Amino acid sequence: MIFGKKDHLVGLDIGSSFIKVAEIKVTGKGHVLNKFGMSRITPGSIVEGRIVRVEDLANDIKSLFKSQKIREKNVAISTGGHSVVIKTINTSKKSEKELHETIYSEAEQYIPYDINDVNIDYQILGESEFSPDQINVLLVAVKKDLVAEYIDLIHKAGLSPKIIDVDTFALQNIYEILPYKNREKITLLIDVGASKTSLNILKANISLMMQDNVSGTDQIIEEICDQYDMSIDDAYRAVNGETNTIDQDKIQEISLKIAQSWCSEICEAVNTYQSGSNDEKVENVVLSGGGVFVEGFKEGLMSELDADVSIINPFEALTFNEQKFSDSFITKASPLAPIAIGLALRRVDDK
Ligand SMILES: Nc1ncnc2c1ncn2[C@@H]1O[C@H](COP(=O)(O)OP(=O)(O)OP(=O)(O)O)[C@@H](O)[C@H]1O
Ligand SMILES: [Mg+2]
Repeated sequence: MIFGKKDHLVGLDIGSSFIKVAEIKVTGKGHVLNKFGMSRITPGSIVEGRIVRVEDLANDIKSLFKSQKIREKNVAISTGGHSVVIKTINTSKKSEKELHETIYSEAEQYIPYDINDVNIDYQILGESEFSPDQINVLLVAVKKDLVAEYIDLIHKAGLSPKIIDVDTFALQNIYEILPYKNREKITLLIDVGASKTSLNILKANISLMMQDNVSGTDQIIEEICDQYDMSIDDAYRAVNGETNTIDQDKIQEISLKIAQSWCSEICEAVNTYQSGSNDEKVENVVLSGGGVFVEGFKEGLMSELDADVSIINPFEALTFNEQKFSDSFITKASPLAPIAIGLALRRVDDK
């Protein structure tokens, strides 16, 4: 056996555009990155968070495991977006059993789905900032049919799903062990993926607000498809500089407009949070996801939020063989890798 602990899992982030996989070894030297890889999936495999082309996607996952020579079958995956509801609720302090009953009896009012159609989980965040008799509880509800879809996919890929996490939590999981300072200051974690954006406002590693919306880099591709009457694949290649069918200035102009719309949306969410929380200002912003490559996004946030904005580097928490993972690869992969790495840090018996 390669690993000292039997309970390790392979982190598999199934994005709507890219899948990423990470395997981490826990040794006396800390967390050692054993494997990491990513590949673009067959376009149209995941639409609005739902798996549409399960066979294609299962094959893409198999190929990625094969190319990375990963033999471990136990995986931790995550979901997010539409079919996952995350809410912070406030309730009086009570016993564990009473809390469980309260959550299950009151959950329906917080969830826009039939309670019988969702799996519910919750976690006590701590005492309410407004009253010592109250606690904040993080409620998570995931649609059962979505979970079933992902389990079926993982089985079709010849793997075994041991943990189904939430993208935002996996991102927070890696952020927590990165060498960031000033954790007492309000920090906003942002992940702009291909089809969704996740926001998570933290103070001292405790989440104060989580929100997902449907913005993402696909908006740029869609705009180019519309304006130039192109296929998704051709537009994708043009945006990523693989072809020069479209003038780069024009791509930049479209990207900038969309990046500005992301900034406005994020600022609106931050303002809503700040106005309801004694005006505690967001001081640090940590970016991840393919959206960080879009010109003007980081700069736009810096000027609109007047905060310190940085791009996440999840590899900073790991040791690895620098010959296996070159500097240029790490730079390119850093914003895309955190969820897979956050998942790879989970253990079988994690809640
Ligand atoms: N250099 C780049 N310039 C512009 N866009 C890029 C660049 N590199 C990657 N992207 C975009 O980032 C996207 C991938 O980002 P990411 O891996 O975060 O998305 P995802 O996890 O697949 O999506 P989601 O989380 O929304 O399901 C690609 O679809 C691509 O459009
Ligand atoms: Mg993603």
